Amino acid sequence: MPTLAPDVLHTFVRDTCAALGSSETEQTLVADQLVGANLAGHDSHGVGMVPAYVGGAKADQLKINGHAEVVQDSGALLVLDGKQAFGQVNGFETMQLGIERAKEHGVAITGLRNSFHIGRIGHWGEQCAAAGMASLHFVNVTGHGPMVAPYGGREARFITNPVCIAVPGRPDGDGNRPLAMLDMATSVIAGGKARVAHEEGRPVPDNSMIDASGKVTTDPSGLLTQPRTSALLAFGDHKGSGLAIMAELVGAALIGGTTMQPGNKRVAGRIINNMLSIIIDPAATGSIDGFVAEAEAYLEYVRSSELREGFNEVLMPGDPEKRSRSNRSDGIPVDDATLDLLRKSAASAGLDGADDRLR
Ligand SMILES: NC(=O)c1ccc[n+]([C@@H]2O[C@H](COP(=O)([O-])OP(=O)(O)OC[C@H]3O[C@@H](n4cnc5c(N)ncnc54)[C@H](O)[C@@H]3O)[C@@H](O)[C@H]2O)c1
Repeated sequence: MPTLAPDVLHTFVRDTCAALGSSETEQTLVADQLVGANLAGHDSHGVGMVPAYVGGAKADQLKINGHAEVVQDSGALLVLDGKQAFGQVNGFETMQLGIERAKEHGVAITGLRNSFHIGRIGHWGEQCAAAGMASLHFVNVTGHGPMVAPYGGREARFITNPVCIAVPGRPDGDGNRPLAMLDMATSVIAGGKARVAHEEGRPVPDNSMIDASGKVTTDPSGLLTQPRTSALLAFGDHKGSGLAIMAELVGAALIGGTTMQPGNKRVAGRIINNMLSIIIDPAATGSIDGFVAEAEAYLEYVRSSELREGFNEVLMPGDPEKRSRSNRSDGIPVDDATLDLLRKSAASAGLDGADDRLR
């Protein structure tokens, strides 16, 4: 598989956004998050999203150079309308505001509704952690048709509704990355991972997807057709399914966002996220140093568990992403089919010489 330097991909994303008309700040925020997702090992939310963004912008579903607008402000609770602007801009600006308010009140809750795709949610947990904040994020995905079946059902009723929980480390440790961060889709695999498997001609993992009759399948193609003929399964049976449903309720309905109920408009290619974030300043609960020391001691204790057969280590949430970052710092593997799609989408965005890029 070809391997590309992170800065080459970063420049490509920036230039494609510039061709769409994005401001310099927007170009940088989008490129930072997408390349950051590849570096973290989440290719499903990396540069492979560019064609979806170009398609969204050209169909006027993604609004270039928009910003989230505060529509409710009760001090520690803010609700913002993302107005279908780039999620990378909406997410960044919402977290900035939330962090400021958490410093003031000890805790802040932000509700970002009606944003175009906000990408890898861990990016927002990392922004909070870099400012010394712990955070919890509940997200729903809507705007297009459902793709995950509820526990017991064979028809999809929601999308991959991610949840993220991050705690900060020592202020000067590891580039102010979270000490630990759980960042996951509530489906067995993220939808983008089915797309990547399909593009690479690979099956999806066992027990992650069902076909139209409700039988388990490993063929991702039914998820990529319109209308979809397959559905992803929620992780952990009724528990993951329940968490995804609650993410619809608190991540969207509670903050005035749209859920997946059929009364709301659905358009193929329109990727809307709503996100409720709870941002907590550990300094408001006691000493940040005391908190981190206790958390580090606990994580060390968990790592020391005797291993089960077939395992050679116990990892903490966030460890795989840290490892991926150090493995990929010199080069990110991107398959030929994705590179081809990237060039085509950049050309359709109006980027000069798109065909000669990423070679
Ligand atoms: N914006 C959206 O609409 C949207 C929707 C769904 C998912 N996403 C994003 O997709 C990304 C991928 O989600 P996913 O569910 O495929 O992630 P994943 O299954 O790769 O990882 C989920 C979590 O488990 C941890 N983990 C992984 N392997 C581990 C191991 N062996 N031991 C201990 N911990 C381990 C990871 O650190 C991570 O915190 C996430 O960043 C998520 O935010 C975004």
